[in-house]
Amino acid sequence: MLLNLTIVAGDGIGPEVIEEAIRVLEVVSAAFGHDLKLTRKNIGGAALMACNDPLPPDTLAACLNSGAVLLGAVGSPAFDKNPGHLRPEAGLLRLRRELGAYANLRPAVCFPALLEGSPLRAEVVKGTDILIVRELLGGLYFGQPRSLEGEPGSRQALNTMRYGEPEIERIARVAFELARGRRRQVLSVDKANVLECSRLWREVVTRIASDYPDVKLAHQYVDSAAMLLVLRPADFDVILTENMFGDILSDQAGGVVGALGLLASASIGGPVGLYEPVHGSAPDIAGKGIANPLGAILSAAMLLRHSFRLEREAGCIESAVQAVLAAGHRTRDLAKPCQSSSSTTEMGRKVTEAVRSLSAGSSRTGVQEKSA
Ligand code: IPM
Ligand code: MG
Repeated sequence: MLLNLTIVAGDGIGPEVIEEAIRVLEVVSAAFGHDLKLTRKNIGGAALMACNDPLPPDTLAACLNSGAVLLGAVGSPAFDKNPGHLRPEAGLLRLRRELGAYANLRPAVCFPALLEGSPLRAEVVKGTDILIVRELLGGLYFGQPRSLEGEPGSRQALNTMRYGEPEIERIARVAFELARGRRRQVLSVDKANVLECSRLWREVVTRIASDYPDVKLAHQYVDSAAMLLVLRPADFDVILTENMFGDILSDQAGGVVGALGLLASASIGGPVGLYEPVHGSAPDIAGKGIANPLGAILSAAMLLRHSFRLEREAGCIESAVQAVLAAGHRTRDLAKPCQSSSSTTEMGRKVTEAVRSLSAGSSRTGVQEKSA
């Protein structure tokens, strides 16, 4: 199969972690007999520096013409004073919209080897395996009107939370479908005691649930869901929620499993999927070679699974990451104070070695068998 990817490494630690993900993709492609074609483009702060546009037209065109997009991170304090449309984040938000990527999947799993890495007691976090399904193109992020106007001292700012029934319906279906491949539980998170958007959300999600009688649906207010996520994280299966609540809860879930650097994400639903680690650009550690590449590497696994239906290849990467962690390798964010740590490239190399040994024997024949 031809894996035609656009790589937008972006800002901060983005380029460092993406290099490791690319190495892993190269090894997996070679092992399973796929051709990898990469087109590298600018986004975010890197694109603002190059041409004062956080999503230049050639970047967008390349993304739209590829089989999938792998993104590092966007964001840099250098642009903090820029107006909204000239901030790095504007490039990412526009890319999500142009790709029609309305479904953001953010798994948060407590890896057995990292049980002690969570700030929560091991017995609380043990077995945690959550999939957050975040609506990505609606709500406060995109709602119109939006503005900031007036004279200093009496300025007013406005954002609009807006959801239409079809938007809620399509994301709800994604959550129910994915729940079928898991523990068949969907928790829909809203603020229906206060917000009209949430009342509509709850009504539509409940209606869609009747098409999935085999999946158990429950509802939770977002404040109480945030508390339960810390008290009993292992009880959650699929969390279905709107854009802003999903942004907040997914970082919290990263804290719960103690490894934000490990979290991967997929933004799908449109013609081209977008894959990125959840951790962000981390400007404080950029260029030091200590960033954790596993979030980017696991995002590459999600890319193979969701955009190319290459389940074996995705599973091979995930098993390699588990094996590397089980063997005790840690980047600095994962290491205990007494433990030695691996650099970004050392960690990447460990994963490629593990992919090589796990895929030995998975020849082209294996792939053909699978797709037959
Ligand atoms: C995320 C990030 C983005 C978001 C920012 C960088 C625009 O926080 O992917 O969670 O808020 O969606
Ligand atoms: Mg976020």
